[in-house]
Amino acid sequence: MTVPTDSIGDPLGDDALRTHLAAELQRTRARSAALTEAVDDGELVRQHSPMMSPLVWDLAHVGNQEELWLVRDVGGRDPVRQDIDHLYDAFRFPRADRPALPLLNPAEARDYVGQVRDKVLDVLERTALSGRRLVDGGFAFGMIVQHEQQHDETMLATHQLRDGAPALHAPAPDSAPSLDLPSQVLIPSGEFTMGTSTEPWALDNERPAHTARTGGYWLDTTPVTNADYQRFIEAGGYDDPRWWSERGWGYRCEAGLTAPQFWRRDSNGSWWRTRFGFTEPVSGGEPVVHVCCYEAQAYAAWAGMRLPTETEWEKAARFDPATGRSRRYPWGDEDPEEAHANLGQRHLQPAVAGSYPDGASPLGVHQLIGDVWEWTSSGFAGYPGFAAFPYPEYSEVFLGGDYRMLRGGSFGTDQSACRGTFRNWDHPVRRQIFAGFRCARDADPAEPG
Ligand code: AVJ
Ligand code: FE
Repeated sequence: MTVPTDSIGDPLGDDALRTHLAAELQRTRARSAALTEAVDDGELVRQHSPMMSPLVWDLAHVGNQEELWLVRDVGGRDPVRQDIDHLYDAFRFPRADRPALPLLNPAEARDYVGQVRDKVLDVLERTALSGRRLVDGGFAFGMIVQHEQQHDETMLATHQLRDGAPALHAPAPDSAPSLDLPSQVLIPSGEFTMGTSTEPWALDNERPAHTARTGGYWLDTTPVTNADYQRFIEAGGYDDPRWWSERGWGYRCEAGLTAPQFWRRDSNGSWWRTRFGFTEPVSGGEPVVHVCCYEAQAYAAWAGMRLPTETEWEKAARFDPATGRSRRYPWGDEDPEEAHANLGQRHLQPAVAGSYPDGASPLGVHQLIGDVWEWTSSGFAGYPGFAAFPYPEYSEVFLGGDYRMLRGGSFGTDQSACRGTFRNWDHPVRRQIFAGFRCARDADPAEPG
């Protein structure tokens, strides 16, 4: 075994950072454990949808990425297991083929991730958290925490797709305060700082900070709700190609879309939804979720609006007109607290629109962070000066592909993997993710701003 040469002990005084990183790794593993202990072994190895991996694949994949980056690269240690790398390489086998692979079984996968973690905690204690870009400020550890949290959200989406009795439980969000919110907020034209060069755990695609500009635009104060979306359905929105893009209409016809995924209408015309095994009336006040980008675009066109660009979304979420600065989050620079946003799987559903007044942006836009990922009209492009780091397979290989950007995180996104600059992307047809949207429209040039 290679002995790490960097340092033993704590010459840089980054004890607090080590403690924080160890706590984040542990908190994240508790979530992965809960998601995989909620069902029996048969359900862990089964493929609940051809679009998803078996849960046991996600678990071992998370451990394998941790081994590759933290045990072997950062730690310079011998492999825990080298014979399985190919099985857990996301680029090697498509999701639909993964159940047929000779995967670790649930007991082996748990044992594997535990062995990796023991080594990683040792590596963390013995590695200087500076002097090499990969470890500066604990970046590699933060990247692995975020990676596991991203797969936890993917596992949560697999839970939503599985049949059978409920396996996950969480309290409903508190009922919303009654606020008299305007339906839209005017965002003034002009420049702002987009992206970041200073956020310690920001991934390559969020970097670097750069100046971006928008015209003036109106943006929905909250995400589009189920009640709003039902009006689009009742108005025949799914049957009118006028509202749909050409590709969107093609997909709507091919897939037979008539409502958000997991919705069903009873013989009285009332809408029901299935949510993590519970069937319940659709709650009108909650942001709509499980719509693809084409449905979002069609709704916006029907409403006389459009989807915001990614730049417009980020400006609304970060720009403070009083200081001219961009914030880390809509509410300021402080990490999320429970009163700011519905994040972290504390609830298994979005909260009613207006539920997070403390999380509003300086311009008065609500629920940008948490609740539902928000589709934007933008494809995936690197910012000016983009440089892949630490590996091209995180972002670079997806740039320019058939993706739409999603912003803001959902109720199932952990705060470590969500901030004003965080960029997510998916194919425009994707519906099983926890995605909704809000609408925008150009301001009249005569309007202030
Ligand atoms: C950034 C959410 C699109 O889940 O495919 C996980 C994150 N990258 N493992 C995904 C990711 C590698 C990625 N998204
Ligand atoms: Fe991954």
